[in-house]
Amino acid sequence: MTKPYVYVTRQLFKPAMEILEADCSIEVFNGEDNPVPRSLLLQKVKDADGLLCLLTEKIDNELMDQGQKLKVISNYAVGFNNIDVSEATRRGIWVTNTPGILTETTADCAWALMMASARRITEGDRNIRAKKWVYAWGPKMFIGGDIHGKTLGIVGMGRIGNAMIKRAQGFGMKVIYYDPRRLPEIENDRVKYATLSFLLSNSDFISIHTPLDEKTYHLIGKAEFAKMKRSAYIINTSRGPVIDENALYDALRYKVIAGAGIDVFEKEPIDPANPLLKLDNIVLTPHIASASIETRTAMAVMAATNIVSVLTGKAPPNPVNPEVKEKLKNRLNASYK
Ligand code: DGY
Repeated sequence: MTKPYVYVTRQLFKPAMEILEADCSIEVFNGEDNPVPRSLLLQKVKDADGLLCLLTEKIDNELMDQGQKLKVISNYAVGFNNIDVSEATRRGIWVTNTPGILTETTADCAWALMMASARRITEGDRNIRAKKWVYAWGPKMFIGGDIHGKTLGIVGMGRIGNAMIKRAQGFGMKVIYYDPRRLPEIENDRVKYATLSFLLSNSDFISIHTPLDEKTYHLIGKAEFAKMKRSAYIINTSRGPVIDENALYDALRYKVIAGAGIDVFEKEPIDPANPLLKLDNIVLTPHIASASIETRTAMAVMAATNIVSVLTGKAPPNPVNPEVKEKLKNRLNASYK
């Protein structure tokens, strides 16, 4: 029996490749760290039973029109704003993601950005390398803000938001959180629910952990920055467009807030002419919040397992659109385990 054909848009870690190779015939885009060109992807997907893709690939109507054989689109990410999920569902194509395993690593990175921005770590590093460290020590030299004992505002209380609470406890911080869903089970003396407006005005650090969708696009803009404390720092490890980047630039440039730690941008890779690059009160990282060897390997294994499950006749362990199961049952009278 011929094995199902899977197109993989980036070379993955070995354990994931082994999972795929056991049950599928695979082809991998051989472009090192470059994304697959759109025209090639549109061509390759024509024969594909499964597609293992990254958030750099736009999986839309046009692509699914080409991929008439597609049964599963496995995203190597927890976020899936690059995929038109409702269109995939309409066509009976499973969409899967990699939830859970990148939670702690992403929270570690958000914490690192918080500490680096408040304590001006990268600014100090740049200063030394530029040979500008001329006075040995001074009371106001690279003076920043404390983290311990402050108030952390978490926007979006999913898994990563929860992991931020754990870290905040270790730093003796109070937490206020905003989410469309209130979660009384996580609330206590030090963790309180708030409206977004209250959170913005009362937090020393604001960390964004919400998915990107039509409701969260530019959730934080000029009006929201205006509500923040002048001493506040904003951290974003979710998706760039949740923050209006022009408004962020103005808030930092005109000291409406004290600083920012940003891992995700409206356009990635960032435009070299992006004015944010000229500011000192922002720490920038290139969308690496989940980038530890352990986590990226686990994500690859999960993405591979999702695809193999579908192509060997089972429902995937991490579906984004579980409703496809019923749809397929009705359509094919297939029995999914
Ligand atoms: C995701 O998984 O959505 C991240 O942005 C990349 O790890």
